[in-house]
Amino acid sequence: MSDQGNFITIKALEDGVNVIGLTRGTDTKFHHSEKLDKGEVMIAQFTEHTSAVKVRGKASILTAHGEVLSDEKIKK
Ligand code: TRP
Repeated sequence: MSDQGNFITIKALEDGVNVIGLTRGTDTKFHHSEKLDKGEVMIAQFTEHTSAVKVRGKASILTAHGEVLSDEKIKK
């Protein structure tokens, strides 16, 4: 892949954050789910298999466009 240098980092700010990879192509489906506990970091790339990443739970997400914070799960 041509974009090997482009990483995103996801740092969990609570236990049980889910990082979900979604497929590239005509259908967009979950293909991978990674659970991070507080303080754990995942460094990931967009690849020919992965077009989008969904983060569930409270995390700091750093991309080339800046940092965004996802919120904690709303417990009902
Ligand atoms: N096998 C997947 C791929 O090469 C692994 C992967 C890459 C991934 N980026 C991801 C999984 C982001 C979850 C989130 O596409």
